[in-house]
Order: sequence, then structure tokens, then C-alpha cells
Amino acid sequence: MHAGPSFGTFLEERRIPFRRNEPLAPHTTFRVGGPAKFFVEPLNEDQVADVFRAARECDVPVRILGGGANLVVRDEGVSGVVVKLTHLRRREGSRVQAGYPLARLVKETVMEGCSGLEALAGVPGSVGGAVTMNAGGRNGEIGAAVRYVDAMTHEGEVRRIGREEAGFRYRGSALDGYVVLAADLELLPDEGVRDRYEEILSAKKRAQPLGRWSAGCMFKNPPGQSAGRLVDEHGLKGARVGGAYVSRKHANFMINDGTATASDVFRLVDLVRRRVPVELELEVLVW
Ligand code: EPU
Repeated sequence: MHAGPSFGTFLEERRIPFRRNEPLAPHTTFRVGGPAKFFVEPLNEDQVADVFRAARECDVPVRILGGGANLVVRDEGVSGVVVKLTHLRRREGSRVQAGYPLARLVKETVMEGCSGLEALAGVPGSVGGAVTMNAGGRNGEIGAAVRYVDAMTHEGEVRRIGREEAGFRYRGSALDGYVVLAADLELLPDEGVRDRYEEILSAKKRAQPLGRWSAGCMFKNPPGQSAGRLVDEHGLKGARVGGAYVSRKHANFMINDGTATASDVFRLVDLVRRRVPVELELEVLVW
């Protein structure tokens, strides 16, 4: 990356906070993977646009990191720029910025007696990441509660995108080419919401190894089937490669015992795929 030094100079000149060779593992819930050559935390939206502009000029690829909850970073790390919207975390009523922690937002809105997000009880990550990937599960997805998002193109232009145009689908959206800056959510007063939240959360705690180092569900559910059940039925609970193993609580989760590398995880993914006769597509992002 010949233009690396000039990109760093640009950031310094504009006082955009960044670090070089930042280990990414601590920024993910799985705690695996190598460093980012540039790790940038813009202070505001204008700085996000500046980063894109400079990256384009310097021909450096940009990736946006949310809460790092659904991500496996390769051991060799990322050669370009990783942008984390750490400082974009304001909430004003139903409007919330991308860097806001999802679990906190869900809990707050439920405690305020508003429904819309309770289906996301126990889902980690950031609001921006959750919206981009349409996080959710059996009880509902975040896309259903989004009125619109404000998103930036990689050219630095901000656009308001309504729910329909955002194209929410199973663990995805049409927002991949954008950086979500903020979302406006449909939150409706609902007396029963607290009980529903508690129920969803406790069911999730019973079924899933929450609190362990993992990236959540590794594989998408194949149409009409359950990836977790398939992996379980093929006797793979507890299967291990190095420091990574298939959870005994939920077979679609892989756990890092504290010593796993990304390479352990990928070898475990291969092992599972060889043993399960149905094609399993990764649900996690890989960098
Ligand atoms: N099952 C097994 N063995 C297992 C795991 C599951 O037999 O080890 C069975 C369960 O008994 C159940 C079925 O498989 O009959 C489905 O399992 P579960 O109810 O746990 O839901 P899931 O389809 O595995 C989905 C999402 C989760 C989300 C939950 C709850 C996917 C790939 N997974 O799980 O999302 O939390 O519903 O809403 O869509 C994630 O995205 O990271 C994630 C965990």
C-alpha cells in the first residue's frame, strides 16, 4: 500500500483519532484475528466523510466495524482502514446513532415501556451493525422497527433511506454499500413489553452460550432447516480444533476458549462442513 504514509498524514492534519496496527481481536466478541493497519475513530460525521475521501485518494480499502459481534477477523489482519464509529453514539428519542450499543438501546426502550426492539433481547453489537445486517432471530428482526436510516455513501454523501428502500432480508439489507450513521426507529407504547423482553431474554439464555467468546451463530439456517440442529445431529457438539470448539449448549455457536486463533476457527468450520451433508453458508462476516 504505497499511499499508506500519506493517509496517516491526512488523518493527523485533520485531527482524526487513529492508531496504526491496532489489534482487532479485542474489538470483537470472538476475540480472534490480527491487526488493522489503520484503525480510525472519527469524532463526527464530517470526519467520516473525510476518511472516505482520503482513503479513495490514497487507494486504501475501508471497512466499517460495528460492535464486532458477528465477525471473524483473519489472523493476518486487515491491510487497509478499519473505521469504528465509537464517537457517534447519541440517542435523541427514537433517533439513535450507529455507534450506540444495541443491547443498551433495547433495554432502555423496553424500560421506557416501548415496543419495537424487544425481539432483539440478548443480541450484542452496535446499532449500525445490527441495522446493516438486519440482526434478529425467531422473534423478529431490527429492520421491522426501522423507519429510516441516514447513511453515507463511500463518496461522503449522506442519504435518508426508508425501510422499503433499505431492503431488509434474512441477515442482510441493501445497505452494504453505505455506512449507516443513524437510524430512526418505530417505538410504540406497549404495557406488555417488559414481560415479553424478559421471556425472550431468558429463553435465549437457556438456549445459547451468551457471555462466552463467540461470534453468535456461525451458519445461516438453510431454508426450512436449523443449522444448529444439523450440526448437533451429526454429533459435532464439543468438536474442537485448537482453542475453538462447537458449543455443547447450541451447536451453531463456536466458542473461543481463550487460546483460539482465526485459523482454528476456519479449520473447525471446514470440519463441520465436511460432516454435515447440507450446505452450510457462513452467517458471520469474515475479514
Ligand atoms: N437445536 C438443536 N441442537 C442445538 C441447537 C438447536 O437440536 O444444538 C434445535 C432447537 O432445539 C430448535 C432448533 O434447533 O428446535 C432451532 O434452534 P433455536 O431455537 O436455538 O434457533 P436457531 O434457528 O438455531 C435462530 C438464529 C439466532 C437467534 C435465534 C433465536 C440463525 C442462524 N440463528 O437460531 O441468531 O438468536 O434464532 O431467535 O438465524 C445469530 O444470528 O447469531 C443468532 C444466534
